[in-house]
Amino acid sequence: MTDQPTPLFSRSWVRMGLLAAVTALATVLVMAMYSSISSRKAEARQTSLRLVDLDEKTVDPALWGKNFPRQFDAYQRTAEKYNTKYGGAGSEALPKSRIQEDPRLVTIFDGYAFAIDFNQRRGHAYMLDDQRNTKRVTTKPQTGACMHCHASNTVAYREAGLKGGAPGTLDEAFSSPNAQAQLMAGFEAICKLTYADATKLVKHPMACIDCHDPKNMALRVTKPGFLRGIVVLANSPEPVPHLPSIEKWRKGDKAAPYDANRDASRQELRSMVCGQCHVEYYCGPKATLFFPWNNGLKVEQEEAFYNDYKFADGHRFFDWKHARTGAEVLKAQHPEFEMWSQGVHARSGVSCADCHMPYVRDGAIKISSHHVRSPLLDVSRSCQTCHRFPEEELKARVVAIQDRTKALMDRAEDAVVDLINNIEAAKKAGLDEAKLQPIFELQRKAQWRVDWVNAENSMGFHAPQEAARILGEAIDFGRQGQVALRDLGAPKVAKK
Ligand code: HEC
Ligand code: HEC
Ligand code: HEC
Ligand code: HEC
Ligand code: HEC
Repeated sequence: MTDQPTPLFSRSWVRMGLLAAVTALATVLVMAMYSSISSRKAEARQTSLRLVDLDEKTVDPALWGKNFPRQFDAYQRTAEKYNTKYGGAGSEALPKSRIQEDPRLVTIFDGYAFAIDFNQRRGHAYMLDDQRNTKRVTTKPQTGACMHCHASNTVAYREAGLKGGAPGTLDEAFSSPNAQAQLMAGFEAICKLTYADATKLVKHPMACIDCHDPKNMALRVTKPGFLRGIVVLANSPEPVPHLPSIEKWRKGDKAAPYDANRDASRQELRSMVCGQCHVEYYCGPKATLFFPWNNGLKVEQEEAFYNDYKFADGHRFFDWKHARTGAEVLKAQHPEFEMWSQGVHARSGVSCADCHMPYVRDGAIKISSHHVRSPLLDVSRSCQTCHRFPEEELKARVVAIQDRTKALMDRAEDAVVDLINNIEAAKKAGLDEAKLQPIFELQRKAQWRVDWVNAENSMGFHAPQEAARILGEAIDFGRQGQVALRDLGAPKVAKK
């Protein structure tokens, strides 16, 4: 190798020149990087500039917004109205009425407040006003339990708890035993108030403090119904592979109950914060609000729990007595968390926030969109991060699932309405009430299932096959009821 020509590099003048050029280039690069970094840093500082000292008493989201203006702006934009084929509530001043859109619901819910007023959900900004104004509240007595999911009540609960004698002060961290005692005592007390008295204790719809720790902005769950519900779910034998921290807790010594704020991963919390409200629940006057998760999250597991549950007076659980048939039936409410739990997305670790609060870039900063709404309005951020299909194709896949679910749901509602009409006719014809008992059970089962899918707000998307399974069962139970009535010799009812 020694007889090789001297490489260009070894010639000192070339080396000097190169060195100078490299240095110059490096200087330019470094300066460019520096200016970019410093402007990014300035932007980053802006997002987390601590203008306000947030603590466990800061309820007003506008104060949090001084430190986090981007998240606050987006949060306020939940007041913007929209429409997709099955989502949103339209752009009118008043939300769309679900009972006007589908008059069968008036028959199905006859005798219950939902037959009077039942609307499409709309943005989070409206949650408190819509609750205060619904005829279900203004014309029927409701309890303070309603407030659990329609207001920022973390502080209101703790204050009520302190008033009732719970230990400590409001300054204590939310996770402290004293704060937890305050929260639960206040929750119990406020659930027992009338709605009119309870709603005076709150000012804001769900706010930052309900999902975030004011000290470090970590995600947290604060709603008592969820904190208790997730404990009974953890204690159940039902496998929950989509919630690995529960599976892990079950394998441990179980010395302390499962605690989402201690045990859950960040990815799990990105769904659990929504599961604080987007769930089936009981919140009537006969018991403190609870989530029926003791057997698991599936439709028949919740049903089995209700069937085993006895009110204080010893009577089996029911939501209302159907006005036309007299059957004691169940009402389902928005089981999004439960339906999502049965789908392939949950199983693949995809959270509610992944689709409903996608990351958005603002300059150099990546933030979570606090403009919670239909993911179909932002397919590129909500879906195309994982699915490499064109936007139109992805939307078409969603609508195909929803159209199929709707068609099956229509059949299931028809089956329930037919059964109701048949039972009514049988009663008028004087058929023995005792003989009708098994048929009331079939109405209860069919109604519960069709309602579970209808009240769930994704029109099947969150778990398409599960939705179809449930609706198939609803149709079957409804028609079984009609067959049983025919066998009893009940009169035929002409189809309308
Ligand atoms: C894989 C993405 C994805 C995940 C994960 C997901 N959703 Fe959805 N969600 C959708 C789609 C798509 C729709 C249908 C939107 C439409 O029809 O406009 C929807 C609809 C909804 C709606 C009705 C929206 C409207 O515009 O009226 C609510 C409420 C909802 N989801 C809540 C949740 C909750 C709570 C979770 C977690 C427990 C969750 N979603 C998980 C994609 C998702
Ligand atoms: C404190 C209870 C609560 C929590 C927590 C909550 N929601 Fe909601 N959500 C509601 C209520 C109540 C409404 C309906 C408000 C109305 O119709 O006035 C709603 C409406 C929605 C809608 C319909 C929006 C529209 O404009 O039509 C979507 C989508 C939604 N929520 C998704 C989520 C997701 C995703 C999460 C978690 C990141 C979440 N929600 C957390 C209570 C909650
Ligand atoms: C466990 C949480 C939770 C509780 C408790 C709760 N809600 Fe809601 N509510 C929601 C969620 C989530 C939505 C949005 C999804 C939907 O509309 O299906 C909603 C939507 C609504 C709406 C708008 C749509 C409609 O149904 O007309 C009204 C009004 C409402 N709730 C009233 C009440 C009343 C009255 C009570 C007490 C009897 C109550 N809520 C208790 C979570 C809850
Ligand atoms: C329904 C629950 C919920 C509410 C209410 C909520 N957030 Fe968030 N927030 C989230 C979720 C989910 C994330 C994503 C966190 C993660 O992935 O670690 C987040 C993230 C954040 C972050 C971290 C940076 C980012 O954007 O990812 C900030 C800052 C923040 N939120 C501020 C706020 C402020 C300010 C408010 C009130 C105006 C608020 N949040 C209300 C659920 C919520
Ligand atoms: C974080 C990643 C992720 C995001 C975000 C996501 N998906 Fe998926 N999606 C998956 C995975 C994983 C599967 C399971 C199939 C697979 O493994 O390829 C799946 C399956 C599906 C399926 C077929 C399964 C079914 O339930 O019928 C559809 C349709 C779908 N996704 C649509 C969407 C839409 C629409 C969005 C946005 C609203 C979305 N996905 C967002 C990861 C994601």
